[in-house]
Amino acid sequence: MDEKLKHDMSRFAKLTYEDFKRLAADDSLTPYQRIGFPDSYREGFEPAIVADMIAKVPPLQAQGGVMIDIGCGCSDLPRLLAAHGERLGQQLVFIDSAEMLDRVQAGPHVRKVPGKFPAMPALVEEFRGRATAVIAYSVLHYVFEGEDLFGFLDAACGLLAPGGHLLLGDLPNVSKRRRFFASETGVAFHKAFMKTEQPPVVEPYALEPARIDDGVVFGILMRYRAAGFDAYVLPQGPALPLRNRREDLLIVRP
Ligand SMILES: C[S@@+](CC[C@H](N)C(=O)[O-])C[C@H]1O[C@@H](n2cnc3c(N)ncnc32)[C@H](O)[C@@H]1O
Repeated sequence: MDEKLKHDMSRFAKLTYEDFKRLAADDSLTPYQRIGFPDSYREGFEPAIVADMIAKVPPLQAQGGVMIDIGCGCSDLPRLLAAHGERLGQQLVFIDSAEMLDRVQAGPHVRKVPGKFPAMPALVEEFRGRATAVIAYSVLHYVFEGEDLFGFLDAACGLLAPGGHLLLGDLPNVSKRRRFFASETGVAFHKAFMKTEQPPVVEPYALEPARIDDGVVFGILMRYRAAGFDAYVLPQGPALPLRNRREDLLIVRP
């Protein structure tokens, strides 16, 4: 692994909402680094990520509707989603810190709401039961690490209109990661990526605090199915950079 990537991986290993504000305000960083990714994890991939999101969320393919992006960040994703939404006459709401939102160029069809979701009661009340699509892409693991996971998810589900879709994208699932690195494909990937002949170390029964695993993923599915929603785990498309260790959840209000 090259030194720049190693440095980025260690400084972006554990980030809070407050840390993201500092990254967003740092003029020395690239747009990908400001959202906590080494450049090589995102550069050139964002159109494919947006295409994957749109394919998974039918309301994003439709004319009109209300789309809320929680934790939109400031790289190309919000810009691409804003352009797509403008073409289809969608009303967009972008939620993130003021520092992140200040970096997002978007037209008048995009309303920017600064703050930490769901600690924004007026917004939650205004859009209760009205959103045709809600997206939290590469956000949930930061909520899981130090925030109220089910407070966040209950509030996000509460925004959905009948037929509305909530995409919880890009979840690093440590169980999926272990399965991958225990496989022949994963061992070959590790050796090539790390430039080593040593296989990866995989500890099948380790309890890893603050990391999403299969138990968390299936717990989320069960909680929202029991609350009357449909809920699914979906793989990431073949063009996505982290597809071998991340996956998406889709929650749909019938
Ligand atoms: C890894 S970045 C992902 C950005 C964007 N969704 C993307 O995939 O390009 C995580 C973002 O979520 C934001 N975030 C984390 N927790 C949040 C919360 N509770 N409410 C709003 N934004 C949050 C951070 O400020 C950061 O911009």
